[in-house]
Amino acid sequence: MSEAQDKTIGVLTSGGDCAGLNAVIRAVVHRAIEGYGWRVLGIHDGAHGLIERPLRFEELSLDLFTGTILRMGGTILGTTSKGDPFHFPMPDGSFKDRSSDFADGMGELGLAGLIGIGGDGSLDILQRLTRQGGINFIGVPKTIDNDVPGTEFSVGFSTSLSTAVDALDRLQPTAASHERVMVLEVMGRDAGHLALNAGIAGGADVILIPEIPYRIDKVAEKITSLQAAGRKHALIVVSEAARAVDGDTVRHTETDGKVRYGGIGNDLGAQIAAMTGAETRVTVLGHIQRGGVPGSHDRIIASAFGVRAVDLLAEGKTGRMVAWQDNQVVDLALEDIIGRSRTVDISATLVTTARGLGICLGD
Ligand code: F6P
Repeated sequence: MSEAQDKTIGVLTSGGDCAGLNAVIRAVVHRAIEGYGWRVLGIHDGAHGLIERPLRFEELSLDLFTGTILRMGGTILGTTSKGDPFHFPMPDGSFKDRSSDFADGMGELGLAGLIGIGGDGSLDILQRLTRQGGINFIGVPKTIDNDVPGTEFSVGFSTSLSTAVDALDRLQPTAASHERVMVLEVMGRDAGHLALNAGIAGGADVILIPEIPYRIDKVAEKITSLQAAGRKHALIVVSEAARAVDGDTVRHTETDGKVRYGGIGNDLGAQIAAMTGAETRVTVLGHIQRGGVPGSHDRIIASAFGVRAVDLLAEGKTGRMVAWQDNQVVDLALEDIIGRSRTVDISATLVTTARGLGICLGD
């Protein structure tokens, strides 16, 4: 793609929302219009806006950015985590490959390039769709789970972390007043980044993450040793996908019929109460972690990612993902990222730090 005027690019958000998505969209629009004189079309509801007819999109102009958008959670474009266009669910229960509808949609809008803001799964699908349509594609990583490989931070993680730490700040005084053990269940899917970071920052006594299967007797021991030392309250942070060495992850069925992680906090609270005699209370933070005003760190990386994504399209690049490494934005081949996972490295600093602080990790 050249730097010539009159180019049209698209931007969309895909997968679960998080704080900071609007800051990326804003940065894309500023850079594309002010830097290159391009038109920017915001595609509604992820890939759906290009698959469905009539096409669903809006032109994004600088007038839209009145100063509030940078501060807004969610995504003004809408998003969806349902419906892989290569295996799209049809009303009659069957599945259909609708990738050609997506490619046709890009053609109808005259898109010369697309910027997709998503987790690694969405970025993989979008890269394949844009390749099929012959359009350049740049990915921007977002997820509160912070599990996209190649980037130290994904958009949304930092705000979500602050929310979890805030929850611990609120739980601690009530735990102390009533001499209770508070269990906080946080999201994160198969990665324990959110729980580990929140637990350290929020002064947890126990942190349980999927990467370190726990022994319930070790957790109970930690609580009884605190009791013996005269401290009758404690904070436990547990990742939604944590599991006992001899158990499985805890899942539940959502209203859409899909099975998702969630519920381990309640199981753990009941077990700890039975084993230690402590009064326990459980808080499941849930989607509170996804919403809210983006924090400054998310706004900064979102802005840097958006600007760089447009610059990469201007340089004619495709199949790249912007990433945060050593305090700068870099770009990486999506091919080297897809299919890899970024879970907590149990020999890295934060695990050592937690152990050094005397936090029980359940092993
Ligand atoms: O991947 C982000 C995430 O919030 C996970 O931490 C969580 O398991 C999941 O999405 C929840 O998804 P949904 O939006 O379908 O409830």
